[in-house]
Amino acid sequence: MMKRVLSGMRPTGRLHLGHLKGALENWKKLQDNYECLYMIADWHALMSDYASSENLSENTYQILLDWLACGISPEKSIIFCQSKVSSHAELYLLLSIITPIGWLERNPTYKEQIKELQNVDLSTHGFLGYPVLQAGDILLYKATTVPIGIDQLPHLELTREIVRRFNHFYGKTFEVPEALLTETPKLPGIDGRKMSKSYNNAIFISDQEAETEKKIRTMITDPARIHPTDKGHPDVCNIFSFQTAFNLPRAKEIEDLCKEGKIGCVACKKELSLCVNEALKEPREKRKTLEKDRKYLLDILNEGNRYAGKIAEETMVKIREKVGFYG
Ligand code: TRP
Ligand code: SF4
Repeated sequence: MMKRVLSGMRPTGRLHLGHLKGALENWKKLQDNYECLYMIADWHALMSDYASSENLSENTYQILLDWLACGISPEKSIIFCQSKVSSHAELYLLLSIITPIGWLERNPTYKEQIKELQNVDLSTHGFLGYPVLQAGDILLYKATTVPIGIDQLPHLELTREIVRRFNHFYGKTFEVPEALLTETPKLPGIDGRKMSKSYNNAIFISDQEAETEKKIRTMITDPARIHPTDKGHPDVCNIFSFQTAFNLPRAKEIEDLCKEGKIGCVACKKELSLCVNEALKEPREKRKTLEKDRKYLLDILNEGNRYAGKIAEETMVKIREKVGFYG
């Protein structure tokens, strides 16, 4: 039997190249070797920003469009929406009962987010329980393999702790799941910080070609280079990170030319723009076609929700029995 993968993303808007390189390309490959469940984590999105929920529904469609555009296939994978499978809420409650508060307060991702995101209120009961909901997501489907970025590792570690605790109290029910870390070339935003919608430094999968070119044109390169003949340092250049991600066959040559001062940044950026736009050509076209067909998108989710709901309910029946509720 194929091993089962579960992963998810919060619907917070259109996806960018960081998502493409950091997750989607890997998700796409996994589809051929695992039974994959890909979940739109709308409960998690609400938890992280409950005061602005006005785009939740639209963002759900947007993220689905980006997934489909990038090759996540409803034929191969189960694509579904967290809030439509009510078992997520039920298992969250149960797991929250057995999870010590100290574990959650010590979670480095939690501490970091509280510190970094000053403009949203994260001091809620729900947000503290974010990883508990995530643990439930994984356990409902008995997923053994969880592809995540390194920032999510503390959350998976908590899932593993919660599994051990559950098994200890109520008898062996779950396997301890494993993280599948995505190895990705580091892809900065156009200002050099981590690519993120909230930093306003992202190149989106759905950007127009000219927009992409303009964003790349404005990026800062090696600050030591003033003339195109100055010797460059690709290792400190943001453009070069993109060259390795989108123009790998030429990256070594560009690296050498740059170090010798034989390629100018303008030419280097031009070449990169062409490569990025070429890589995004098909996803963008696919997205354009699909975005006109809301009915098709809804059908995909309905089907995925139904399928996921069935697996989840089967798990819940076992869990309720283990815990000892009547019936
Ligand atoms: N917390 C994850 C993120 O923000 C999204 C997520 C929710 C997830 N549930 C999950 C990831 C279960 C992996 C498994 O990226
Ligand atoms: Fe960066 Fe390319 Fe300029 Fe070298 S030539 S500094 S790699 S943009």
